[in-house]
Parts: sequence; C-alpha cells; structure tokens
Amino acid sequence: MRFRKKTVRDVDVSGQVVLVRVDYNVPIKDGEVVDDMRIRASFPTLQYLMQQGAAKIVLISHLGRPEGQPNPEFSLAPVAKKLAELLPDKDVRFCDATVGEAARYAVDNLPQGGIILLENLRFSPLEEENSDAYADEIVSATEADIFVQDGFAVIHRAHASTDAIARRIPAVAGLLVEKEVSSLEGVMTNPERPLLVIIGGAKVEDKQPLIEQFLPIADNIAVGGKIAADGYTSKNEKVYVADEFVEDENGAKLDISQKCAAEIMRMAIMAKTVVWNGVLGKVEDPRFAKASLAVAYAIGENKDCFSVIGGGDTAGFIDSLDDDDLSYGLVSTGGGASLELLSGKSLPGLEILLNS
Ligand code: 3PG
Repeated sequence: MRFRKKTVRDVDVSGQVVLVRVDYNVPIKDGEVVDDMRIRASFPTLQYLMQQGAAKIVLISHLGRPEGQPNPEFSLAPVAKKLAELLPDKDVRFCDATVGEAARYAVDNLPQGGIILLENLRFSPLEEENSDAYADEIVSATEADIFVQDGFAVIHRAHASTDAIARRIPAVAGLLVEKEVSSLEGVMTNPERPLLVIIGGAKVEDKQPLIEQFLPIADNIAVGGKIAADGYTSKNEKVYVADEFVEDENGAKLDISQKCAAEIMRMAIMAKTVVWNGVLGKVEDPRFAKASLAVAYAIGENKDCFSVIGGGDTAGFIDSLDDDDLSYGLVSTGGGASLELLSGKSLPGLEILLNS
C-alpha cells in the first residue's frame, strides 16, 4: 500500500541538521538497557541520514513517565551509552539538557556527521501539554532544518515532540514509521486471504475496538488470553473464543489449553495474513507460555504468510524467541500506537506530517 506521507527519502538532508523523534522508551535495570529492540529499530533511518550526508543528527525521546519533573531514574543517559555501543564507529553523544543554552552548546559542538541524544523530553510538563513554546525552544536550541518522526510507538500522542514541533519545520516520516504504518494499514485494507486475527492480552476494553474493526475484514478471529479466561463471548461465527484453560494451584486461568492452542495453530497454518495482538497466557511464567509459543511457531514457520505482531507484550515475546527459522512480517515497536492504528483511530503524530 502506498504510504501517504513524505518520508526522509523525499527531502534533501545533505548538510542539514536533522531532528529525529525516536521512541527510546526502553526498559532499564540498574542503569543498563535490558531490551534494545526500539533502539535497533531506529537504525535504518539513522543509517539513511548518515549516507545522505546529514550534517548533524539530533535525537529526541521520552523515557517512562517522570510527570514533568527531572528525575535521574528516567534519564536517557544509559540509552545513549547503549546507542554508542551499538554504533561503535560513530561519534554518539549525550546531552543532559533538552533545551536552553546547554543543549544549544552541545549541538553546536557536535562535529559534522555526529549523533547526539538530548535528555528526556518529559522532564518538562510542556512536552505532554503539546506546548508551542517548548517546540520552539527545541527547534531554536538545535537549529534543526528538518524534523523526522521515527518514534512509531509514540505517534498516537499529541505532544510537543510529535505535534507542535511538526508545525514549525518541514516534517517527514522516518523509515520505521513508514514500515510500521504501511504494514499495519496494508493488512487492514488489502490483506492476502485468509486473514486470521489473534487477540489476547488482559483488557477487553482495549481489544474490543480491534475486534470490531476486524469483524468485517478478517476471515477468522481467535480470542485467547485473559480476555477469554474472563468469559469473553461472541455470537459471530467468524470468532473463535478459547474455552479451556491451564490453571495455577489457586485455580487462576493463566493460559489457554493445548486443545485451544491447536485450534488457533490450525487457522494460523492456513492463513496468508495474520495479525496478532496480545499474548495468549501469562508468558512471563514458562508454565503458562506454551500456547503462545506453539502459536508463535505456527505463524513463524508459515512462510506463505505475512504476519503483523502487535506491540507491547506480544512483540517482546516474539523478540525473545530468537530462532532464525522463524520469520515475521512486522514485529511492531508500538503497543498503544499499533493498537490504535489497527482499531481505526487516527494518529496525531502521523497526520501532522507532510503529505506525499
Ligand atoms: C510506549 O511505550 O507505549 C510508548 O513509548 C508511549 O509511552 P506512553 O504510553 O508513556 O506515552
């Protein structure tokens, strides 16, 4: 499906200061990044910008929810360290300010071809308030010529770094945003059939819009996870709801049964397109990860199938499998963003970008 926004490929970045909104909201433990999937996902855009001769690349991101206050627990410093490790032959720097003189000085002193990550955008309340003044300050401190939105996981938010900033300088999509949006919109508008949608996870109110969106589109919808365990029902003949569960010692239903997993696997083996959003059990505990594992293998080994794995817990689970025999079309970096897009909602951080 044709991507309807301008991307980095549509602008001349050579010699320009490029401001890139990434989503480096990654888990950190004891000052170390424990999952770098979102960092690696930004590399196609960064590499493209470097190849095209961008003068400087300035990265902005949030980390966690520090509620508008500076808080060392949510500093992006460990992320910059990880980024430097992953790009050993690049000059990767960190600035412990986001705006103001310190940020201006750091960007000014960045050598040609260098990359700098500024401190957590959410250390100011103005970020989530979508403040024009904050966007102005960021543009002025960085002297950015072009804005690239590559933080797919945050484009469902209308914040200063996703909305206000894109009203100030030419704003285009990065390659991650292009890939994620094209894949997700593609399965909604032009899927190869049969299309199977697998829904799991915990909150029925989050997943109901997704089920409704796909009822007229999908050939089959399979529901597992806590939603099914909590008694979700559907009268629609396309919808299969798991009805047998594996319980823990207290009788809590924490995975769907092998029989139910086999039913979903049967559909996955036949499918030409699969959309999977939400794990089928409590996968943190290997005793209750069996159904999700079996279904992940059925999808990943089906080479005739284009699969889109919705973000959050499902993408993390798939990423942890680390088996070269398995392949997936798109493992989304965005939990809320992919859920909102697949549920038919418009994404402010995408809509504001220049149309192609
Ligand atoms: C995410 O992890 O889903 C994104 O980074 C968005 O974070 P938020 O829900 O705190 O806005």
